[in-house]
Amino acid sequence: MTNVVQGRTLDIRPANRVTGTIRVPGDKSISHRYVMLGSAAMGITILSGLAPGADVAATVACCRALGARITADGADGLRIEGRGWAGLSEPSGPLDAANSGTTMRLLAGMVAGRPFRTTIVGDDSLQRRPMARVIAPLEAMGARISATSGRAPLVIDGGGLQGVKWTPEVPSAQIKSALMLAGLSAQGETTIQEIQPTRDHSERAFPAFGLSVRVDAMGVHVPGGQEPRSPREPLAVPGDPSSAAVWAAAAAGLPGSSVELHGVLLSPRRLGFVHALQRLGAEIVVSESAEVAGERVGSLRITHGSHAHAAITAEDVPDLIDELPVLAARAALGGSLDVTGAAELRVKESDRITALVRGLRALGVTADERPDGFVIDGSRRPTGGTADAAGDHRLVMAFALVGLGASGPTTILGADAVAVSYPGFARDLERLSS
Ligand code: S3P
Repeated sequence: MTNVVQGRTLDIRPANRVTGTIRVPGDKSISHRYVMLGSAAMGITILSGLAPGADVAATVACCRALGARITADGADGLRIEGRGWAGLSEPSGPLDAANSGTTMRLLAGMVAGRPFRTTIVGDDSLQRRPMARVIAPLEAMGARISATSGRAPLVIDGGGLQGVKWTPEVPSAQIKSALMLAGLSAQGETTIQEIQPTRDHSERAFPAFGLSVRVDAMGVHVPGGQEPRSPREPLAVPGDPSSAAVWAAAAAGLPGSSVELHGVLLSPRRLGFVHALQRLGAEIVVSESAEVAGERVGSLRITHGSHAHAAITAEDVPDLIDELPVLAARAALGGSLDVTGAAELRVKESDRITALVRGLRALGVTADERPDGFVIDGSRRPTGGTADAAGDHRLVMAFALVGLGASGPTTILGADAVAVSYPGFARDLERLSS
């Protein structure tokens, strides 16, 4: 049993299990991409099932400020009336990416190709996050960008880009996608060579918007001088695997649980958490049922199996980077988890290694930091207590999961951050737990 968010806190009472069927909100990564591409496209783009949170709302507001005509279409849809690249113009004030790294980095790529000045700002957390990783390649393409020690606000004077060949220092779909978007406006080809594969939603979305992209052993190649075209059919965004992972981890961690998740994006590059949960002992059936705009969609059925030990290393990380907090919470309920090669967690919405371990310990979990990861020992039942989510939506959900399996009540501070990706989280928690 749980209580809903009251002000900035979420109170969780211990539960025996989670059961039921759920359709999680639309995928955040895909939503950002469709909104940006639709805004630059020639023609009318109809989108449904978009991610409901504040992050995608920030992308919509930024695209409107750039001149895109975007109106609501049903409860979770948008109608974007695009006039091609020429429909975008210099915004009258700074664009606010709020808490959203994807908004800031992908938009930086998009406006780098436009012949005007754009300033992009964010909230305190976002303005602490590293932007040099997109500034350097965009400058190499010819954009003029000013920032403070590689951090936002970013002032971007765009236009006149040349294609580049770039190998990002860290595996990052955000860097890759920023360069792909910039590459559309460049002269010549842009090639991104990844040191490790990352989520490939941009590669799948480009053809849906009539754009050429080639993927081979040498990397992702985007020919320059392209303008997106709105898709002929409406595009439905599949359910977000990162939100699905919370219920999957809850079902895996609480004996007697069984949960079915429908309409979930089943892109292989997003299913790392399924394999990790299986290694921790869960029984999971993945059923693919459709392909939508190049993305696989289907259902997941998760039942609690056993409690085992699992290790996650650098090669696993890009495919489950956003799910590491809920995987930690799952391990806190039984078994153990050893994560290395995940230093990127320190530059997410919070320092997700320090804030996660601190919050887990406050809930009576045996957890230790590593420089590039953490260790969780789930042999002792969490006690519950008060944990601070440090303004990070993924930590709210992770701590809520620990609270369900704890022996006493849990209070999560800063729980309103959950609205960044999953505003209906507390309601769904109430419905599924008993
Ligand atoms: C995202 C990519 C990931 C992920 C983020 C969304 C995207 O970031 O953590 O939540 O939509 O491309 P990085 O690519 O920087 O690791």
